[in-house]
Amino acid sequence: MKALILSGGKGTRLRPLTYTGAKQLVPVANKPILWYGIEAIVAAGITDIGIIISPETGEEIKNKTGNGDRFGASITYILQDKPAGLAHAVKIAQPFLGDSPFLMYLGDNLVESDLHLFIEDFKTRKLDALTLLCPVSNPSAFGVAKVDEQGRVLQLIEKPKVPPSNLALVGIYLFSSTVHNAIANIQPSARGELEITDAIQYLIDQPKQVEARQLTGWWLDTGKKDDLLEANRIILDTRLETSIEGEVDENSQVIGRVQIGSRSKIVNCTIRGPVTIGSNCHLENCFIGPYSSVADQVSLIDADLEHSVILEGAKVVGIQQRIVDSVIGQRAQLKVAPQRPKALRFLIGDDSQIELV
Ligand code: DAU
Repeated sequence: MKALILSGGKGTRLRPLTYTGAKQLVPVANKPILWYGIEAIVAAGITDIGIIISPETGEEIKNKTGNGDRFGASITYILQDKPAGLAHAVKIAQPFLGDSPFLMYLGDNLVESDLHLFIEDFKTRKLDALTLLCPVSNPSAFGVAKVDEQGRVLQLIEKPKVPPSNLALVGIYLFSSTVHNAIANIQPSARGELEITDAIQYLIDQPKQVEARQLTGWWLDTGKKDDLLEANRIILDTRLETSIEGEVDENSQVIGRVQIGSRSKIVNCTIRGPVTIGSNCHLENCFIGPYSSVADQVSLIDADLEHSVILEGAKVVGIQQRIVDSVIGQRAQLKVAPQRPKALRFLIGDDSQIELV
């Protein structure tokens, strides 16, 4: 079995963070979202992985992720010249996929479940497609499935105005090679994309063996700021292990599960985990509260934050009010003079500079 990860697309929903970078590389607990997917796929026993990339962000993804050695996998990059839809991505990956059954994984999705069980189920039941579903409160934002009592999928609709159920399609699918024929038989949708939901609907109508399973555990589509913060919270909560490599001075207090990377300096700070701090950071006179991730080369001086993500090279100086629920982009600079509002809530893009004076 092979895997195909979709990591192209435009990433408009995480703008401005993704003006200068791929949304799949935005870190969750200081690790790119995409890497969690690769690790889950390898843990499920699949090591031959194709990754769809776009002309805009493909080089960055390639450079950061490499040939797969670090994951114990072999990665083949496949360039999609425009984001023409999830089924279009499968179409251009056909030379890589050949006749192999494959797991398709949307590179901005994160799930708690072990993929192994779904793969076993797909193989033993000799299915043509297995989709994963998760009940959500806002089904109109997703592909939505109507299923019967046996879990058979009756109908799939992409982002319906009037959803037939609250069961969203999770961005993880299993297909046999018959999906290629289905894709060859569908037309672009009203939004101009070749939709994977239409290809699956084609298989259902044939009829081919299409089933769905409900996901247990959490699922996050990290497309928006609040999803990203929630993913960060859950990963820090469930997977962070204490490890302190940097220097913590005697006036600082580190409480709970905290990671501090090499060559980082912590001076007169209180850090209350779960918190991860990358390498080469400088933190002075700060309170860093639970569910915060601070990437490499960040400088935080006289700052107070919790439940926030600070990306690489950012600088925050002179903010005593607590920064909460915020995402601060790469190399962004935030400097505040002494008059103090009570709370600050930010989504600041890469290279932004904000000075409240
Ligand atoms: O996250 C689950 C949802 O993902 C499903 O419920 C929907 O049925 C499915 O269409 C998809 O919807 P999104 O609106 O989230 O898709 P998005 O455009 O964000 O693309 C998902 C991933 O696939 C993302 O990593 C970018 C990549 N992609 C997307 C397109 C359209 C490609 O690599 N190529 C493409 O042409």
